[in-house]
Amino acid sequence: MNTQWFAIRTPDDAPQIEAAAAILRRGGLLAIPTETVYGLGANGLDEAAVAAIFEAKGRPQDNPLILHVPSADWLTRCCEDVPETAYRLAERFWPGPLTMILKKKDIVPPRTTGGLDTVGMRCPDHAVTRAIIEAAGVPVAAPSANVSGRPSCTTAEHVRQDMDGRIDGIVDGGECAVGVESTILDLTVSPPRLLRPGGLPLERLREVLGEIALDKAVTQQLGEGERPRAPGMKYRHYAPKAPVTAVTGTPAESGRWLCANAPDGAGIIAFDEYAGLFPDHTVRAIGSARDKAEQARRVFDALRSFDDTDVTEIFAQCPDSEGLGLAVGNRLKKAAGFHTADAHDGRLVIGFTGCTGAGKTGVLRALERRGACIVDCDAFYYERLRCDPALRAELGAAFPGVLDGGELDRQKLGQLVFGDAERLAVLDGIVRRRLPPAIAKRIMASPAPIAGVDAIKLFESGTAYLCDVTVAVSAPEEARVRRIMTRDAITEEYARKRVRAQRDDAFYRALCDRVFENDYPTLAEAEAAADDFVANLLKEYREDEANG
Ligand code: TXA
Ligand code: MG
Repeated sequence: MNTQWFAIRTPDDAPQIEAAAAILRRGGLLAIPTETVYGLGANGLDEAAVAAIFEAKGRPQDNPLILHVPSADWLTRCCEDVPETAYRLAERFWPGPLTMILKKKDIVPPRTTGGLDTVGMRCPDHAVTRAIIEAAGVPVAAPSANVSGRPSCTTAEHVRQDMDGRIDGIVDGGECAVGVESTILDLTVSPPRLLRPGGLPLERLREVLGEIALDKAVTQQLGEGERPRAPGMKYRHYAPKAPVTAVTGTPAESGRWLCANAPDGAGIIAFDEYAGLFPDHTVRAIGSARDKAEQARRVFDALRSFDDTDVTEIFAQCPDSEGLGLAVGNRLKKAAGFHTADAHDGRLVIGFTGCTGAGKTGVLRALERRGACIVDCDAFYYERLRCDPALRAELGAAFPGVLDGGELDRQKLGQLVFGDAERLAVLDGIVRRRLPPAIAKRIMASPAPIAGVDAIKLFESGTAYLCDVTVAVSAPEEARVRRIMTRDAITEEYARKRVRAQRDDAFYRALCDRVFENDYPTLAEAEAAADDFVANLLKEYREDEANG
């Protein structure tokens, strides 16, 4: 079959809209863009057309399809006993990523609903697709346009990969704005029940409806013989070829866990902040840890993209369940067949940063007195230079001549980069890529439940993202100048030059969760204050943990 391609970017493109609608009217199969994922559409009232959808997708016959309509006016055409809540929800959230399960009318054939007496109704937030449905004049049954079991399609190109030659047409309406499928809410039961988390967060629905029950299939693998209320939830889904493990915990925890546990040859799905921590793995970034909307947009593409690589397994950082995180996490867990790894490690990793001479070491000693494992990043770097062949090899390749029979000539390296901004940036880049993962491994290998990381470049290196809390150690400039004069036995002029060459205090203060003001006239006072500060910090965070 020759699959026709329609690039339609506006609902005003009447000839193209009409040509696409004609395919639906004559019982053909048409892939349509929606705000969630691409759908594989056919006339939902035409049994033969609907049967062709199941055929093209390789979809089990008992898995019902959703009917797509251009507005809430169409509800009464397809549904019986529509409750007032359905109209309220439509008013508030349609067009948008919400599918409502309602009692079906007889005109909806059992083929469409997998034999159920209910039907899923949805009004997609995509003007082109609404115009096509309107022009076709029939409700359009459309599952996601992927081959059954594969990750859903969020671009027309994904659809082409799965459906070229199997369907009549593909409408390219651009990238999907939401990226995960609609939220499915069953309104035939009381209280309403969430059957599938999706593009409309549960919290938004609760604002309108109050109590909503969560179907078990949302969060768990169902047991043998257990039947979810959304039949589709029982099938293996969204799966790339390589097996997936969904890693749960806070981003810092899953980041540390992956650094310590991801085997060679594995693929990794990581939040943007963490993507740089795996220089030797195939990594797909899916957006910032804080930006679940972006994660939703990119998760399916990330899952799909591994099929073109030779990774043997895939590990994915999972967001928490708030907002869109419930849907993103659900897709990752389903892709993993609910094979998850809990990265919660009961550790407290504290990152310390601040200007030279501010007194980081003093605070870290206070932490060490409490049994913490301390990683001084400068010292750690030099240790890695001695014992990490990958780091040495990379430096050797970037700076010819610095390797002397496998040993690194630090002096030579120093001379090469000194005063040369470009070379320094290259060195920085290498160190930044290799050091944070090594730090994470060191922390994870330590039996101590508390770790302190001492890093001037805590944020620039990405090490901050491995920490549960970050602390800026701050001191007045005069105090810093005096301290480094004594500590490093240098002149005042040179000390000032060094202090000025650094980032100022405000940088660290702005980025860190906590600030330790190290402005004490005597060492003894500073030490006592550091002890207090650390005691309070541990109390706060360890208690948090005990309660949470
Ligand atoms: O965002 C979406 O909903 C996308 C786009 C294309 O609109 N469509 C989509 O369809 O995700 P599909 O077929 O891949 O997933 C529909 C899910 C299946 O798990 C199915 O079992 C469930 O909805 N479902 C459909 N009708 C149902 C019904 N009457 N009762 C319970 N579950 C139903
Ligand atoms: Mg699907």
